[in-house]
Amino acid sequence: MHDVRFTIPEQDLNREPFTTKIPDFQKKSEVMITDRGYKCRITNIVRLSAQERLFQLRIVDPLERDVFSFRPGQFLMLEVPGYGEAPISISSSTSNREFIELCIRKAGHVTSALFEAASGAMVSIRGPFGTTFPMEQMQDRNILLIAGGLGIAPLRAPLYWINDHRDRFGKVWFLYGARDPGQLFFDYQFEEWKTVSHIELHTIVEHPDANWTGRTGLITSLFDEISFDPKETWAIVCGPPVMFKFVCSHLDRIGIPMNRMFVSLERRMHCGMGKCCRCMVGATFTCLDGPVFDYWSVMNLKEAI
Ligand SMILES: Cc1cc2nc3c(=O)[nH]c(=O)nc-3n(C[C@H](O)[C@H](O)[C@H](O)COP(=O)(O)OP(=O)(O)OC[C@H]3O[C@@H](n4cnc5c(N)ncnc54)[C@H](O)[C@@H]3O)c2cc1C
Ligand code: FES
Repeated sequence: MHDVRFTIPEQDLNREPFTTKIPDFQKKSEVMITDRGYKCRITNIVRLSAQERLFQLRIVDPLERDVFSFRPGQFLMLEVPGYGEAPISISSSTSNREFIELCIRKAGHVTSALFEAASGAMVSIRGPFGTTFPMEQMQDRNILLIAGGLGIAPLRAPLYWINDHRDRFGKVWFLYGARDPGQLFFDYQFEEWKTVSHIELHTIVEHPDANWTGRTGLITSLFDEISFDPKETWAIVCGPPVMFKFVCSHLDRIGIPMNRMFVSLERRMHCGMGKCCRCMVGATFTCLDGPVFDYWSVMNLKEAI
């Protein structure tokens, strides 16, 4: 049947098409279904540094708690009542049905209001939204997890996933870099990652303090410490765009195919579900088509990094 939506008016026939990509209406309508709000209680707050905290949320309604599920790499729209919403990566285990953990930096309006909240306060979440790390496709391969600073937030869900299905993966390395030792978050979990999850952890900081005995420099220096078969290794890289640009170029040079490196791209977002166009890069909705992209797609996204 003729679809009137794509009919070009006669006077426009000589113009360039305004977009080369037809919006994926099916994907949008699927996302609308997940657009439901869940009331949550903040059950615990862990201070990670002066500017970063881990918030543990519990969905109040037990039936909703049962329904809620997500995949590694997805994010939520977190609403602080009276202040607004912010997109935040889910930083907990997909198998933990009791709590959702969010690792949050105090950045502006919404997050500053959240930092005033105490345990017991109520917030709302919408979601989960966005694309995910392809954990099943990565099975039977070696995995290279690379995080810079707060990039640990989206990386914790795949870390937990690997721990939950440890026998399905080969060797796993985790390279974690930060500005200073105080910015290496979750150091209280390092031992558990090494001994329980059998993950080879390497850390590095740019500006050491007097107590730091580990490596100093940029995260790319850590590649000296590990050796792996690039054909058998997949990578997840989370951090500031400048970091994953350098890291992914290095991985590309040593032979990991670009479509086996995954990054989480954080653009400014408003609705999180393909309605407002705030997050668009070219014709790509980073909230629907991302935030997880393979590096090949990011390279082809103009102005993405
Ligand atoms: C998919 C996704 C996942 C995210 N996950 C996390 C997370 O796990 N933890 C976390 O702390 N933050 C995360 N963020 C970033 C967070 O959403 C922003 O910091 C958000 O703006 C905070 O809201 P706010 O109202 O407190 O700050 P605002 O008042 O909106 O802004 C504060 C400052 O941050 C700048 N800013 C806002 N958003 C961005 C952005 N995307 N990129 C660069 N600068 C920006 C603004 O220009 C301003 O200077 C994520 C963002 C996205 C898109
Ligand atoms: S954030 Fe509104 S369309 Fe992506």
